[in-house]
Amino acid sequence: TLYGWVSKKRNLGGLIFIDLRDRSGIVQLVIRPENKYYELAETLKNEYVITVSGTVVERESKNEKMATGEIEVEVTELTLLNEALEPPFQITDNTNALEDTRLKYRYLDIRRGEIKEKLETRHKITLAIRNFLNGEDFLEIETPILCKSTPEGARDYLVPSRVNKGTFYALPQSPQIFKQLLMVGGIERYFQIAKCFRDEDLRADRQPEFTQVDIEMSFVEEDDVMGLTEKLIAHVFKEVKGVEISLPLQRMKYDDAIKNYGSDKPDLRFDMAIQDVTEAFKNTEITFIKDALEKNGIINGIVVKDAADKYSRKEIDKCTDFVKTYKATGLIYLKKEAELTGSIVKLLTKEEKENIVDILHLEENDLVFLVVGDYNMVKTSLGALRCKLAKDLRLIKENDYKLLWVTDFPTFEYSEEEGRFVACHHPFTAPKDEDIEKLLTDKSHCYSKAYDIVINGYEAGGGSIRIHDAKVQEKMFEALELTNDDIEQKFGFFVRALKYGTPPHGGLALGLDRLTMLLTNTENIRDVIAFPKTASASDLMSECPNTVSDDQLKELHIKIEK
Ligand code: AMO
Repeated sequence: TLYGWVSKKRNLGGLIFIDLRDRSGIVQLVIRPENKYYELAETLKNEYVITVSGTVVERESKNEKMATGEIEVEVTELTLLNEALEPPFQITDNTNALEDTRLKYRYLDIRRGEIKEKLETRHKITLAIRNFLNGEDFLEIETPILCKSTPEGARDYLVPSRVNKGTFYALPQSPQIFKQLLMVGGIERYFQIAKCFRDEDLRADRQPEFTQVDIEMSFVEEDDVMGLTEKLIAHVFKEVKGVEISLPLQRMKYDDAIKNYGSDKPDLRFDMAIQDVTEAFKNTEITFIKDALEKNGIINGIVVKDAADKYSRKEIDKCTDFVKTYKATGLIYLKKEAELTGSIVKLLTKEEKENIVDILHLEENDLVFLVVGDYNMVKTSLGALRCKLAKDLRLIKENDYKLLWVTDFPTFEYSEEEGRFVACHHPFTAPKDEDIEKLLTDKSHCYSKAYDIVINGYEAGGGSIRIHDAKVQEKMFEALELTNDDIEQKFGFFVRALKYGTPPHGGLALGLDRLTMLLTNTENIRDVIAFPKTASASDLMSECPNTVSDDQLKELHIKIEK
């Protein structure tokens, strides 16, 4: 006996074949003309809900592409449970329906194997995480959704209070403060599959509401948190994908990640590291390069092995336009053919050419891209170009996973907007012991006990050891130029708590959505969320956000300006 939906119906030489779909997949039903349910079967349409009983028999013509392709069910009983409107798109894998249509009718989209399987994988990941952390003595504890604004750096979603006129709750950007308070509360090992809310510009890997696997531990140092997390990740990969991840994971300092890959989340599935050729240009007479180097700039490049003949002028122009979106002023290219050829080759001396070939170990048919300018721009634009080229040249193998830790993040970053140094992570991240004394005097050379786990070029998670010493915390607030009023108003309650015997503690949060994306090979975060929001943060199905009645607004003491 089976229950499910009519996925497809065909009438072949009088026999009715129905593909019946349920959560586990599809099976073929046969109804012969002599069957007393034949007439009923003829009336069935796609997405009608039915139940059948029958006999499983071997198929005459087998379908190797189908999991149940060797059998079919000879129907002996058939009941129509419900009719259905004609769906706005066909419910099959590899649909060409517009994503907006799929999101408007998300419940139909979920019937498609592609989406359903991703939700199944998400369940398996969550279960594997819970089992592992339970085995390691962690307690799963929920923290409030209506709370005070948390300092994660994005904009808050606010909820007006009816009872307390003119006041607002904020939805948590993460449970950061609460999990630290749980450590003050003596919980020692906490985790939560936590919903987080951030009102920020959305991208393919960002949603306004997303889920973290949030973890915090007491009496730990960096190695403890990283050690536990990588064991957790390895467990998930093994349970969900059957993939062995060899531990310990590679670690790379933030400065090296930027230097060699132009990104704090380097994709190590392919090579093409960024190389410094400034030395080869130290006596250059090429004006724009000379000028840039005199202004403390650098000239760096990436080598695309054996690809010179694959890149026409037109392709190279596309790459130039691409790096310009990263503020590069231009892109120099060189090709190692019998001679070195390319955009600036006529202006290079023999010695300079030899030096370039030497430094970059160039071989026949190698293609070189160079960018000149200030350090950050050069690194970022080449880092992005590196990833684009790997995609274009299909250098990335399917089901290849490269995991690493990026460590030693800077404590501060300079905000041009605010004209001051702001926290790179958040104000509770502990600086490296040796940098505490530099907090007020040398902000650009302070590093933190912070770490990110990076998988295939995605930031899959991040965290830090926290400050537990009130004096260091005060110094940090001072470094961030927060006034006593700011501190008291924003997190006075938290600073107070830290003074009541806070254990040394630290943790991290993994992005559950991103982890699921990686394990289901999709680059679209909406694919792994049952009811996601669009890039403009709306739900097309329920049409939210939306206006509310004047009565509701009045009750909340809110007036909308026209
Ligand atoms: P962080 O802000 O780095 O750290 O977030 C942790 C992880 O959450 C995921 N993530 C997101 N996923 C989808 N959509 C978003 N908008 C989004 N923003 C973040 C990423 C990221 O690595 N409280 C700290 C953690 C800690 O210090 O313990 C925090 O929230 O995968």
